[in-house]
Amino acid sequence: MNVLVTGGAGIIGSNFVRLALAERAAWRIVVVDALTYAGNLENLAGIEAGFPGRYRFVKADVADAPAVEKIFAEEKPSLVVHFAAESHVDRSVLGPMDFVRTNVLGTATLLDAARKAWREKPGRFLQVSTDEVYGALGETGAFAEATPIAPSSPYSASKASADMLALAYHRTFGLDAVITRCCNNYGPYQFPEKLIPFMISRFVDGEKLPVYGNGMNVRDWIHVDDHNRGVLLAIEKGRAGEVYNLGARCERKNIDLVRSLLELLLKARGVAAEKLESRIAFVKDRPGHDWRYAIDPSKAERELGFRPEVPFEEGLAKTVQWYVENEKWWRDVQSGAYRDYVAKVYGGQTSE
Ligand SMILES: NC(=O)c1ccc[n+]([C@@H]2O[C@H](COP(=O)([O-])OP(=O)(O)OC[C@H]3O[C@@H](n4cnc5c(N)ncnc54)[C@H](O)[C@@H]3O)[C@@H](O)[C@H]2O)c1
Repeated sequence: MNVLVTGGAGIIGSNFVRLALAERAAWRIVVVDALTYAGNLENLAGIEAGFPGRYRFVKADVADAPAVEKIFAEEKPSLVVHFAAESHVDRSVLGPMDFVRTNVLGTATLLDAARKAWREKPGRFLQVSTDEVYGALGETGAFAEATPIAPSSPYSASKASADMLALAYHRTFGLDAVITRCCNNYGPYQFPEKLIPFMISRFVDGEKLPVYGNGMNVRDWIHVDDHNRGVLLAIEKGRAGEVYNLGARCERKNIDLVRSLLELLLKARGVAAEKLESRIAFVKDRPGHDWRYAIDPSKAERELGFRPEVPFEEGLAKTVQWYVENEKWWRDVQSGAYRDYVAKVYGGQTSE
């Protein structure tokens, strides 16, 4: 089965490619990624050698219709797993238009190419989305699939638009589209602008750890492998036109998460415990900062048999260990040296 995975050079996509090639022997995966600042080919290192003949990388922009149609014609995929996105909320506050282009136009371009390519032999389109489309919660309750869409940031508004397009293509053209909406991911290969790797890198550099507002905002966390196992289940057991929330019932206040990280880092690097609190700096809150997210994954548990496997404390400890052991990986990202990897591996040619 030919599978097109967009955004495969990001954190979730690259972990998905590893997992899917290992666990689905009949799959051949074509990664389509524009290698924006967030795309890192090092995240996919070793895959070509590990799974010979079952992997191809194509550098392309999902909003480029002729390029996308060419890939469909060459590869004839029967499944698209769409991860590619501009994904960082803070960047969407600084420059929303990249988010509209990639997340809305890019998704529409892929859906339309799929609609044309699958006229005779239908395939499945898995739209990877986020709980942020539901907006913010107060102190209680959790997002269900029936919760009205009420995005706060340009990022979440662009993802909500993409979801609406996928559902419209299902209702209008009968395209077999399934949507998963997941909470905050953590794990290896996460770009060090995201909370967990960002805090780890600041700590290692002896810098203060900036926490928005009073740190009481709540996020719901899931290990990237559990998210990806949920995506596989939605691909194989999900019903067309349905939305499935994926989460691990793991809410944490931001400040508590930062304290847990500090404790793990102190242990890993032998720094005195009393210095802990002095490392934290509360900073001006993000505009439109959602107060609390919590996702109710009951539907995915019931219909797909979804069961997260990684306990948070264990996953977090392993993740801290990974960043401590792979300092070169995130230093290369910070310095921009990861971009040289493209030239080294592909001799400047990234289309193959
Ligand atoms: N990270 C999370 O916590 C989280 C939670 C829920 C849902 N999601 C969703 O999961 C998906 C993957 O997120 P991530 O955290 O891995 O993101 P990421 O920023 O790590 O990776 C995004 C990837 O998409 C690629 N990309 C960006 N624009 C592109 C374009 N125009 N054409 C082709 N490729 C392009 C980038 O090069 C990069 O490799 C996104 O759709 C995101 O909305 C993320």
